[in-house]
Amino acid sequence: MAKDPGRVLIFDTTLRDGEQSPGASLNLEEKLAIAQQLARLGVDVIEAGFPFASQGDFAAVKRIAEQVGGTDGPIICGLARASEVDIRACAEAVAPAPRRRVHTFIATSDIHLEHKLRKSRKDVLSIVPEMVAYARSLVEDVEFSCEDAGRSDPEFLFEVIQAAISAGATTINIPDTVGYTTPSEFGKLISDININVPNIGEAILSVHGHNDLGLAVANFLEAVKNGARQLECTINGIGERAGNAALEELVMALHVRRRYFNPFFGRDTDSPTPLTAVRTEEITKTSRLVSNLTGMVVQPNKAIVGANAFAHESGIHQDGVLKNRLTYEIVDAQTVGLSDNRISLGKLSGRSAVRARLEELGYDLSREDLNEAFARFKDLADRKRDITDRDLEAIVSEQVQQPEARFQLKLVQVSCGSSLRPTATVTLSDRDGPEETTAAVGTGPVDAVCRALNDLAGEPNELIEFSVKSVTEGIDAMGEVTIRLRREGKFYSGHSADTDVVVAAAQAFVNALNRLVSGQANLSLHPQKDVVGSENRPTL
Ligand code: KIV
Ligand code: ZN
Repeated sequence: MAKDPGRVLIFDTTLRDGEQSPGASLNLEEKLAIAQQLARLGVDVIEAGFPFASQGDFAAVKRIAEQVGGTDGPIICGLARASEVDIRACAEAVAPAPRRRVHTFIATSDIHLEHKLRKSRKDVLSIVPEMVAYARSLVEDVEFSCEDAGRSDPEFLFEVIQAAISAGATTINIPDTVGYTTPSEFGKLISDININVPNIGEAILSVHGHNDLGLAVANFLEAVKNGARQLECTINGIGERAGNAALEELVMALHVRRRYFNPFFGRDTDSPTPLTAVRTEEITKTSRLVSNLTGMVVQPNKAIVGANAFAHESGIHQDGVLKNRLTYEIVDAQTVGLSDNRISLGKLSGRSAVRARLEELGYDLSREDLNEAFARFKDLADRKRDITDRDLEAIVSEQVQQPEARFQLKLVQVSCGSSLRPTATVTLSDRDGPEETTAAVGTGPVDAVCRALNDLAGEPNELIEFSVKSVTEGIDAMGEVTIRLRREGKFYSGHSADTDVVVAAAQAFVNALNRLVSGQANLSLHPQKDVVGSENRPTL
């Protein structure tokens, strides 16, 4: 049996696999903010990125290693293909963290070997021990993944795993890269690895899986029953294609159904000891932060973190919940940190009250950031009577998106109505040019605003998504707008919140434009699609 830490380790890959979602690319400040929140959430490992991909990726992993990876904090991990240059860059990037890990991988399925790597099984069997041993010469903690394990020949997989452990791998990860397996198949694969790999007791068994058939979480839970003790997952389940297994669903399944899972850990059914180290009350906040910063909107019916996850529409359900919430609720909303939108502050609240509330919410802002947040709070308080925690979170998460912006929205005005042609006037300042004003007409006020902003910015793009949702209830609620732009096959998202949705749309559009002009992610390599040796190595 593989090593058993006695509970499930949560390996969060929101910043690596999650960031591989189209349009989810994040800047350094955003990555840092998410990593800090993941540490508050209590994950065991943060996979902070793929350092060899670009200088930006390297810098982000290094900064997270410096600022988030304390002695009691999460392990900071980086991804590296099975090549010396990747592994060296990765080890360098995670070096500042007292607890650090290099995660290296190579594909093991015949389909990947033949069509992607153009290598034989024999080649792979010689690369794996060499690269794992190289990684071990640089760090103590080495994870090895057999990409596309779900479609690999099990006998070959056993040989590769044995070789990786002999060379020093401390964690063995089994990815269902294309989300192909079913729960019983995946559970059996984990059990077979435990039975057939002679040295498996020297490593922790981990699983990684994509949601192409909507089975990732179910597959992981079967894997846990068969001895997997590390789960690789992302907040809101974001990631390549249909995404990764969702952290919040896994953690809450293990929390709510602890009595069912306890015996698989050799515990009494009634053991109250949690099965993960995650602070469940931080889940909602983490979900919102990731959604706001990546621009990946959470579907309303999404388990645990969807807007409707705790809403009861039918009269019979409402009546039942009022009598006893256990009639229709298996999770208490407060367990995941969904408070009742407590009204906290208003127009007369001072700077210290705002700072104190932000601190309670987990935002430790620098003096400058606090000044800016307070100015935005005052502005909002002039227009909205009660400022809730959600409003404050919306203000702060938008602020994180702003640093080093080239364009700044100075003014937006629209005229529209049943008998008017929607017209927008906007003023945009440009760090690289003069401040300019222009007007445009459109099919609606938002369309007119976007046209006017595009005229001024002169950066060709296509608007492919525009979504608005209200932050809180009530007629004076803030509207949150997410915008996604596409240029040359790359996606750029922008997010903003305001009591005026047209202003929020204009600001979200400018935020997306700023990401587009900074060329975020444009120069990055893709860890799985770019094969070792075929790339121009970025200068580090
Ligand atoms: O899906 C996958 O196989 C991966 C590996 C790099 C772990 O993301
Ligand atoms: Zn993956």
